[in-house]
Amino acid sequence: MSKLLKEEIISVEKATEGIYRMTVASDYISANAEPGQFVNIKCCEGVQTLLRRPVSICSTDRAKGRYDLYFQVKGAGTKILAGKKSGDFIDILGPLGRSFDLDIGYRRIAVVGGGIGIFPLLFLLNESKAVVKRSYLGFRSSGYIVLQEEFRQKSNSLEIATDDGSYGMKGFVTDMLERDILSEEFDMIYACGPTPMLKKVTEIAKKHNVRCQISLEQRMGCGFGACLTCACETRTEEGGSQFVRVCADGPVFNSEDVIFQ
Ligand SMILES: Cc1cc2nc3c(=O)[nH]c(=O)nc-3n(C[C@H](O)[C@H](O)[C@H](O)COP(=O)(O)OP(=O)(O)OC[C@H]3O[C@@H](n4cnc5c(N)ncnc54)[C@H](O)[C@@H]3O)c2cc1C
Ligand code: FES
Repeated sequence: MSKLLKEEIISVEKATEGIYRMTVASDYISANAEPGQFVNIKCCEGVQTLLRRPVSICSTDRAKGRYDLYFQVKGAGTKILAGKKSGDFIDILGPLGRSFDLDIGYRRIAVVGGGIGIFPLLFLLNESKAVVKRSYLGFRSSGYIVLQEEFRQKSNSLEIATDDGSYGMKGFVTDMLERDILSEEFDMIYACGPTPMLKKVTEIAKKHNVRCQISLEQRMGCGFGACLTCACETRTEEGGSQFVRVCADGPVFNSEDVIFQ
């Protein structure tokens, strides 16, 4: 169950160019959050940032009652968040949304992340009991790479692709998944990132008949199912389609259910 909380910020630090890590003290969220869930943060009072901003939970320290968020500064809301200081209190609604399915039957998993989509996947790797965990991460260029060591520690292997070839493989992260999918015999693929990447991961998973869950980065308003800002089209069991709310029915969906526009 999500709660409206006033939580203390422990620290805000620059992780890499334009990306910040915020550590927040919260017994409730650290104890109850599941991988794939997010918090909706009220950045400040005022018209520009009236709407809350959704940010995925990247890791939790349940023993110490704290969790980490990583966010990229894009506009007014995230700029204000980056300027917060240790000891400030923020208004947070969470944990929100449907989490990834971490069935213990999944022995061999792949996580595929692009840009800011990598953050919920680290939490997933922490909690997954799979025996083989392969991480495939894609970034625009080397300057945007973040959490490399953490992903390396939590996976059996990590491979990185950059659009411009400045680090790792030059090209799309999905090329690496496509290369390995036959030999690796994955039970499950988890993906989060830009829509074209999710579309491609969905196609690859379907072609090779591998289960796949994707987390959608949809623009949001309320974050709890009331405003319909975040509507997305999915398939119904009867073969039709329906509009669902990414914030409440997602952000995680079975990839074959999503109808990409
Ligand atoms: C479920 C969910 C989890 C997310 N988790 C993270 C995370 O862990 N880290 C992170 O950095 N960002 C995350 N985002 C994206 C983040 O919410 C947006 O970047 C943020 O709301 C932008 O707010 P702003 O006021 O700074 O920018 P705005 O002024 O509102 O927008 C600035 C730019 O950001 C784009 N933008 C706005 N909202 C979104 C969005 N929802 N998704 C993608 N682009 C957007 C706009 O198109 C615009 O170009 C997540 C989004 C969702 C829906
Ligand atoms: S953001 Fe309001 S219904 Fe999803």
